[in-house]
Amino acid sequence: MAANKKLLLLPGDGIGPEVIAEVRRVVDWMGQRRSVRFDVKEGLIGGAAIDATGHPLPDETLSAAKNSDAILLGAVGGPKWGSLPFNLQPERGLLGIRKELGLFANLRPALVFDALANASTLKEEVVRGLDIMIVRELTGGIYFGEPRGIEDKPDGTRKGVNTLTYTSPEVHRIGRTAFDLAQKRKKRVCSIDKANVLETTVMWREEMELIKSEFPDVELSHMYVDNAAMQLVRNPKQFDVVVTTNMFGDILSDCAAMLTGSLGMLPSASLGEADPSGRCPALYEPVHGSAPDIAGQGIANPLATILSFSMLLRYSFDIDEDADMIEQAVKNVLDSGMRTEDIMETGRTKVSTGEMGEAVLKELDKLVA
Ligand code: IPM
Ligand code: MG
Repeated sequence: MAANKKLLLLPGDGIGPEVIAEVRRVVDWMGQRRSVRFDVKEGLIGGAAIDATGHPLPDETLSAAKNSDAILLGAVGGPKWGSLPFNLQPERGLLGIRKELGLFANLRPALVFDALANASTLKEEVVRGLDIMIVRELTGGIYFGEPRGIEDKPDGTRKGVNTLTYTSPEVHRIGRTAFDLAQKRKKRVCSIDKANVLETTVMWREEMELIKSEFPDVELSHMYVDNAAMQLVRNPKQFDVVVTTNMFGDILSDCAAMLTGSLGMLPSASLGEADPSGRCPALYEPVHGSAPDIAGQGIANPLATILSFSMLLRYSFDIDEDADMIEQAVKNVLDSGMRTEDIMETGRTKVSTGEMGEAVLKELDKLVA
């Protein structure tokens, strides 16, 4: 029998623990009803880790992360920790774990479920059937470039500095990830840059073109980021795979999330480079944040986190059948009219976080019956 898979849960802050609790039920269901078994551990990150240990990414969490087969994270951050020094804020925990594990490829699919085509603030015909994959570079660019910081000048003024850097190998590996994904989809990659202003992205564009020759069956186009923001809300269905830098990806993926109706629906995967044994570090998390304004009320949407677990099954373990099953269960729940507050429309049934999780489990039961 195959060894149990080591799963690390990092609930984090705000609604993080509430949505992770629902996934935990799905994990247990998998253990009872399907062949995949997990050894589940929980760890601290973000504000919860600061409160318990004084640091947003304790060594214990980092070593547990390095020893696990996959990580599922809730969310980090909140006003409670806003006045701490920059280097000790909850977000440092998330950025730190991405960097330490080398999770350079962030996959953010924006998929519109038919039942939610009305929930978007955009017209239904613009978003119905939408299925795009945003591939965001996650360990480089202006998020990590040096020099950085805030300088006090002798004349009493201050200077803030951040640096946008990419090397060609960094562009190649994220480019290959995007082309690989496109080969399994509609075979189109659109690379987003600001090559009319930023030299770093002139190089990015040229290196993407070089990599393209390895994937003769995939079409490559380029777009400036300002135009891409406009095209995403004008006609998002023109895109298949979008590949872009860390910061552009951060911004465009929030925009893409709203096409799907709610930030509460979007899962993500952050993947690193496989070691010689084929083991690949991977962290899965909903795209939404910790939503401190609604934390503790039991009204958060757990679906983005449940869908992140389905990505985990697919990308870390190639268990497509079970991943498909979870996605089908989510689809069925939405078709049945259940809605958490963020995706609520008139005529639907409003449910709590726990009721939504319960409904997914019931659908899973039906699917294996
Ligand atoms: C995201 C978030 C993070 C980011 C924050 C919380 C540091 O916005 O995952 O998109 O900017 O990467
Ligand atoms: Mg973001």
